[in-house]
Amino acid sequence: MKRRAVVLATVVAVFSMLGVAHGQDAISESLTGAKGDPVRGRAIVASRQVGLCLLCHSGPFPEERFQGNLAPDLRGAGARWSEGQLRLRIVDSSRINPATIMPAYHRSEGLARVAPAWRGKPVLSAQQIEDVVAFLMTLRD
Ligand code: HEC
Repeated sequence: MKRRAVVLATVVAVFSMLGVAHGQDAISESLTGAKGDPVRGRAIVASRQVGLCLLCHSGPFPEERFQGNLAPDLRGAGARWSEGQLRLRIVDSSRINPATIMPAYHRSEGLARVAPAWRGKPVLSAQQIEDVVAFLMTLRD
Protein backbone atom coordinates (compact mmCIF):
# COMPACT_ATOMS: atom_id res chain seq x y z
CA MET A 1 0.00 0.00 0.00
CA LYS A 2 2.79 2.35 0.99
CA ARG A 3 4.78 1.52 -2.12
CA ARG A 4 1.71 2.12 -4.21
CA ALA A 5 1.27 5.56 -2.68
CA VAL A 6 4.89 6.35 -3.51
CA VAL A 7 4.43 5.16 -7.09
CA LEU A 8 1.28 7.24 -7.42
CA ALA A 9 2.98 10.31 -5.96
CA THR A 10 5.83 9.86 -8.44
CA VAL A 11 3.42 9.52 -11.33
CA VAL A 12 1.60 12.66 -10.27
CA ALA A 13 4.87 14.57 -9.96
CA VAL A 14 6.08 13.40 -13.35
CA PHE A 15 2.73 14.27 -14.90
CA SER A 16 2.92 17.85 -13.75
CA MET A 17 6.56 18.15 -14.84
CA LEU A 18 5.79 16.99 -18.33
CA GLY A 19 2.65 19.02 -18.62
CA VAL A 20 0.85 15.79 -19.35
CA ALA A 21 -2.24 17.20 -17.74
CA HIS A 22 -2.47 19.46 -20.78
CA GLY A 23 -3.55 16.69 -23.07
CA GLN A 24 -0.35 14.97 -24.19
CA ASP A 25 -0.93 11.85 -22.19
CA ALA A 26 -3.03 9.76 -24.54
CA ILE A 27 -3.11 8.09 -27.94
CA SER A 28 -6.73 8.60 -28.79
CA GLU A 29 -6.86 6.72 -32.11
CA SER A 30 -6.95 2.93 -32.26
CA LEU A 31 -3.68 1.61 -33.73
CA THR A 32 -5.64 -0.70 -36.02
CA GLY A 33 -8.62 1.54 -36.66
CA ALA A 34 -10.86 -0.93 -34.86
CA LYS A 35 -11.80 -1.99 -31.34
CA GLY A 36 -9.79 -4.78 -29.76
CA ASP A 37 -11.12 -8.03 -28.33
CA PRO A 38 -11.16 -8.03 -24.50
CA VAL A 39 -11.11 -11.84 -24.28
CA ARG A 40 -7.91 -12.05 -26.31
CA GLY A 41 -6.57 -9.09 -24.32
CA ARG A 42 -7.09 -10.89 -21.02
CA ALA A 43 -5.17 -13.89 -22.32
CA ILE A 44 -2.27 -11.65 -23.35
CA VAL A 45 -2.16 -9.89 -19.97
CA ALA A 46 -2.26 -13.15 -18.01
CA SER A 47 0.25 -14.94 -20.26
CA ARG A 48 3.74 -15.63 -18.97
CA GLN A 49 5.00 -15.85 -22.55
CA VAL A 50 3.29 -12.93 -24.26
CA GLY A 51 2.38 -10.00 -22.02
CA LEU A 52 4.33 -10.81 -18.86
CA CYS A 53 2.27 -8.10 -17.16
CA LEU A 54 1.85 -10.22 -14.01
CA LEU A 55 5.59 -10.15 -13.45
CA CYS A 56 4.99 -6.66 -12.04
CA HIS A 57 1.24 -6.21 -11.76
CA SER A 58 -1.52 -8.04 -9.94
CA GLY A 59 -5.14 -8.06 -11.02
CA PRO A 60 -8.40 -10.02 -11.13
CA PHE A 61 -6.84 -13.31 -12.25
CA PRO A 62 -7.89 -15.88 -9.62
CA GLU A 63 -6.32 -18.69 -11.67
CA GLU A 64 -2.85 -17.10 -11.55
CA ARG A 65 -1.11 -17.92 -8.31
CA PHE A 66 1.92 -15.71 -8.55
CA GLN A 67 1.37 -12.07 -9.35
CA GLY A 68 3.70 -9.10 -9.18
CA ASN A 69 3.87 -6.36 -6.58
CA LEU A 70 6.15 -3.88 -8.33
CA ALA A 71 3.34 -1.95 -9.98
CA PRO A 72 -0.24 -0.85 -9.30
CA ASP A 73 -2.95 -3.53 -9.25
CA LEU A 74 -4.72 -3.52 -12.60
CA ARG A 75 -8.15 -3.64 -10.95
CA GLY A 76 -10.01 -0.43 -11.75
CA ALA A 77 -7.60 0.58 -14.54
CA GLY A 78 -10.56 1.14 -16.86
CA ALA A 79 -12.10 3.54 -14.36
CA ARG A 80 -8.86 5.42 -13.57
CA TRP A 81 -7.80 5.97 -17.17
CA SER A 82 -9.40 6.70 -20.50
CA GLU A 83 -8.93 4.31 -23.41
CA GLY A 84 -6.37 6.67 -24.99
CA GLN A 85 -4.41 6.99 -21.73
CA LEU A 86 -4.25 3.22 -21.39
CA ARG A 87 -3.12 2.86 -25.01
CA LEU A 88 -0.21 5.26 -24.47
CA ARG A 89 0.79 3.50 -21.25
CA ILE A 90 1.02 0.13 -22.99
CA VAL A 91 2.62 1.44 -26.18
CA ASP A 92 5.36 3.36 -24.36
CA SER A 93 5.13 4.14 -20.65
CA SER A 94 8.44 5.99 -20.81
CA ARG A 95 6.68 8.84 -22.59
CA ILE A 96 4.95 9.53 -19.27
CA ASN A 97 7.63 8.43 -16.86
CA PRO A 98 11.13 8.37 -18.43
CA ALA A 99 12.39 6.30 -15.48
CA THR A 100 9.67 3.66 -15.64
CA ILE A 101 10.53 -0.02 -15.38
CA MET A 102 7.50 -0.91 -17.50
CA PRO A 103 8.57 -2.10 -20.96
CA ALA A 104 7.48 -0.18 -24.06
CA TYR A 105 5.25 -2.79 -25.70
CA HIS A 106 4.91 -1.14 -29.08
CA ARG A 107 8.08 0.74 -29.77
CA SER A 108 11.04 -0.64 -31.66
CA GLU A 109 13.26 2.46 -31.88
CA GLY A 110 15.68 3.71 -29.27
CA LEU A 111 15.81 0.56 -27.15
CA ALA A 112 19.05 -0.75 -25.66
CA ARG A 113 20.14 -4.37 -25.20
CA VAL A 114 17.64 -5.97 -27.58
CA ALA A 115 18.46 -9.53 -28.66
CA PRO A 116 19.03 -9.81 -32.43
CA ALA A 117 15.86 -11.85 -33.01
CA TRP A 118 13.78 -9.02 -31.56
CA ARG A 119 15.51 -5.99 -33.07
CA GLY A 120 13.12 -3.73 -34.92
CA LYS A 121 10.08 -5.63 -33.69
CA PRO A 122 7.67 -4.35 -31.07
CA VAL A 123 6.85 -6.73 -28.22
CA LEU A 124 3.13 -6.62 -29.02
CA SER A 125 1.55 -6.02 -32.42
CA ALA A 126 -0.92 -3.19 -32.98
CA GLN A 127 -3.75 -5.73 -32.79
CA GLN A 128 -2.45 -7.13 -29.50
CA ILE A 129 -2.18 -3.60 -28.07
CA GLU A 130 -5.81 -2.96 -28.97
CA ASP A 131 -6.87 -6.28 -27.41
CA VAL A 132 -5.05 -5.42 -24.16
CA VAL A 133 -6.59 -1.93 -24.09
CA ALA A 134 -10.07 -3.39 -24.67
CA PHE A 135 -9.54 -5.78 -21.76
CA LEU A 136 -8.22 -3.10 -19.42
CA MET A 137 -11.27 -0.96 -20.20
CA THR A 138 -13.43 -3.75 -18.73
CA LEU A 139 -11.60 -3.45 -15.36
CA ARG A 140 -13.94 -0.96 -13.75
CA ASP A 141 -13.52 -1.80 -10.09
C1 HEC B 1 8.67 -4.69 -15.41
C2 HEC B 1 7.46 -4.32 -14.72
C3 HEC B 1 6.18 -4.09 -15.53
C4 HEC B 1 5.63 -4.86 -16.52
C5 HEC B 1 6.17 -6.15 -17.10
C6 HEC B 1 4.39 -4.21 -16.88
N1 HEC B 1 4.21 -3.07 -16.14
FE1 HEC B 1 2.59 -1.83 -16.21
N2 HEC B 1 3.47 -0.58 -14.87
C7 HEC B 1 4.63 -0.84 -14.19
C8 HEC B 1 4.89 0.23 -13.24
C9 HEC B 1 6.07 0.31 -12.28
C10 HEC B 1 3.80 1.14 -13.36
C11 HEC B 1 3.58 2.43 -12.56
C12 HEC B 1 3.85 3.63 -13.38
C13 HEC B 1 5.30 3.74 -13.77
O1 HEC B 1 6.18 3.59 -12.90
O2 HEC B 1 5.54 3.94 -14.96
C14 HEC B 1 2.95 0.60 -14.41
C15 HEC B 1 1.78 1.18 -14.83
C16 HEC B 1 0.79 0.55 -15.57
C17 HEC B 1 -0.55 1.04 -15.78
C18 HEC B 1 -1.13 2.30 -15.19
C19 HEC B 1 -1.26 2.05 -13.70
C20 HEC B 1 -2.60 2.24 -13.07
O3 HEC B 1 -2.69 3.10 -12.21
O4 HEC B 1 -3.55 1.55 -13.44
C21 HEC B 1 -1.20 0.12 -16.54
C22 HEC B 1 -2.65 0.16 -16.99
C23 HEC B 1 -0.25 -0.92 -16.83
N3 HEC B 1 0.96 -0.63 -16.23
C24 HEC B 1 -0.54 -2.03 -17.58
C25 HEC B 1 0.39 -3.02 -17.92
C26 HEC B 1 0.10 -4.11 -18.83
C27 HEC B 1 -1.23 -4.36 -19.51
C28 HEC B 1 1.25 -4.84 -18.94
C29 HEC B 1 1.51 -6.03 -19.82
C30 HEC B 1 1.18 -5.89 -21.23
C31 HEC B 1 2.24 -4.21 -18.06
N4 HEC B 1 1.67 -3.11 -17.47
C32 HEC B 1 3.53 -4.69 -17.84
C33 HEC B 1 5.47 -1.94 -14.37
C34 HEC B 1 5.27 -2.96 -15.30
